[in-house]
Amino acid sequence: MNSPVLSPDDIKKKAGTYAADLVEQGMVFGLGTGSTVYWLIMELASRVEQGLEVQVVPTSVQTEELAIQSGIGIADLNTVSRLPLTIDGADEIDTNGQLIKGGGGALLREKIVAAASDRLVIIADQGKKVKTLGRFPLPVEVIPFGYTQVQQTILAGGQAQQVVLRQKNGQPFVTDQWHYILDCYYDQIADPAALNSLLHTIPGVVETGLFAGMASEAIIGKEDGTIELITYE
Ligand code: 5RP
Repeated sequence: MNSPVLSPDDIKKKAGTYAADLVEQGMVFGLGTGSTVYWLIMELASRVEQGLEVQVVPTSVQTEELAIQSGIGIADLNTVSRLPLTIDGADEIDTNGQLIKGGGGALLREKIVAAASDRLVIIADQGKKVKTLGRFPLPVEVIPFGYTQVQQTILAGGQAQQVVLRQKNGQPFVTDQWHYILDCYYDQIADPAALNSLLHTIPGVVETGLFAGMASEAIIGKEDGTIELITYE
């Protein structure tokens, strides 16, 4: 018998649903953003109906609203010392577990929550796995004031081929923290940590979508319906 070929959304559903097993009764944990996390929230919603009691620190307004609608409690990051766990999606994952995030525009809160977490578990479909980061444009969150200066400085650095202001409905896309996003096109990002540090030297840059050395594990959904579990050093 041939193995099933799951649709992209069903693959995300598999990974998101699988991750719900990491959540323990009474836990306060970080909850990411995106279409894979959506399925995690749906699974948690059904477990909450069956008696699961948890609180989440949401990484976006979108996730917060969805969590509230699903009966999941909300915790304020300022009231916890550390989070034992955060589960989030990613736009690209390299072989060392370095990530590009921010396709959904939530990278700033996502990075703050990831940095506050003892364990960052990434849920994704197999298409997100790459040898070297760079196929997906790197989101860089910037202050709206003078953002074209940042754009020019990144381009002048010589590594990015294109730096594009993200738009929505013909207007600049505005993040939950009222910033803009520059999507930066690179051929390859050979050293994500070094590029992250370099970008942070530019006045006006708030955060980058490079998450280097932050992910501890990944739950990868595959087309044949199986799950690949990866642990990073
Ligand atoms: C949002 C993100 C998301 O985690 C990333 O875009 C992956 O989303 P999806 O699960 O929808 O593919 O970084 O800022």
